[in-house]
Amino acid sequence: MALRTPSLRRVARWVPALCVALAMLVLAGCSPDGYPQTTLAPKADFAELLDKVFRRSFQLATIVFFLVEGALVWALFRFRGKPGDAEPEQTHGNAMLEVVWTVIPAVILVFIAIPTIQTIFKTAEAPTDNPLVIEVTGHQWWWEFRYPEYNLVTAGDMHVPVGRTVDLRMTTGDVVHSFWTPQLAGKRDVFPKRDNRLWFRTETAGLYPGQCAEFCGTQHARMAFQVVAQEPAEFDAWRTGLAAVGAPADSGAPAPDSLVAQGQQLFAMKGCVGCHMVTAVGAPTMVGPNLAGIGSRTMIASGWLPNTDENLARWIMNPQAVKVGVLMPNLGLNDEEATALVAYLRSLRVAPAPAAVATTAAGN
Ligand code: CUA
Repeated sequence: MALRTPSLRRVARWVPALCVALAMLVLAGCSPDGYPQTTLAPKADFAELLDKVFRRSFQLATIVFFLVEGALVWALFRFRGKPGDAEPEQTHGNAMLEVVWTVIPAVILVFIAIPTIQTIFKTAEAPTDNPLVIEVTGHQWWWEFRYPEYNLVTAGDMHVPVGRTVDLRMTTGDVVHSFWTPQLAGKRDVFPKRDNRLWFRTETAGLYPGQCAEFCGTQHARMAFQVVAQEPAEFDAWRTGLAAVGAPADSGAPAPDSLVAQGQQLFAMKGCVGCHMVTAVGAPTMVGPNLAGIGSRTMIASGWLPNTDENLARWIMNPQAVKVGVLMPNLGLNDEEATALVAYLRSLRVAPAPAAVATTAAGN
């Protein structure tokens, strides 16, 4: 029995189904409020420069696509053979055509190359407008942020003031990572014993998710962070609040019998202090992230879990179950101990809490 080739009509029957499938795939990339980890909604000068190059290249590519495909489809119909046609004339090489279709793409590439190279130079320049320097260090698997101007260190959430350029000096404590906040700036790899630079200035307060973009081990995908862009006054409140966390002049030691005091004791007894500092001023880099301000961070476990009491307990009771391979060991905490430790960690908060934190917690 001879195999039948599918008729055009039969193929056409599948077109609506294919269109629906394609639309579903495309729409899966959207969310009602617009998932913010996208390069297509730039919110800082650096990201806008990149966006301009992307849009220009995409426009040119669209024009080329329609011209080439249009010519192809036109030629297909115009010169299609009919039964009984003689073999068409065979030609090999046409100097004029060869020159034309070499020169046109070359000219198009020039139009793409000029703005691209200009942007590369522009984004590689060091900012000179009194930037806020932040030292960024990648660790397996979390990000550390130091503010030399204020002698402060934090992790996970990088707070920046709107309207002021931030000048990131970036390196790694171990392997190669890549720092990426799609809405604010391009990617920059971080290397051992080398400082890479990246700058941006945003005028829009908000939370911007970021992600390690270079494979760096088993938990690479869960090496996220947030940029918290705040109005200057809010930012100043945050940094003075952070400086006060755990300081002797802080609102005072917890009441001796309180849950917080129990948690503080456990923090020392269980060995947490061996890897984590709870003050942010002048603190050295430890094995684990600095925990000053953890009570009011947006996320825990490097942007993996929303910072709720439940998630904090889950995390400290069995870190390996949340992120296999992290350095934090299972301390064998019971429920009571975990509750006390969570209360203590929650007390290490920056007051007043940034409004953005409340929004995130509610949104999750
Ligand atoms: Cu760090 Cu991937």
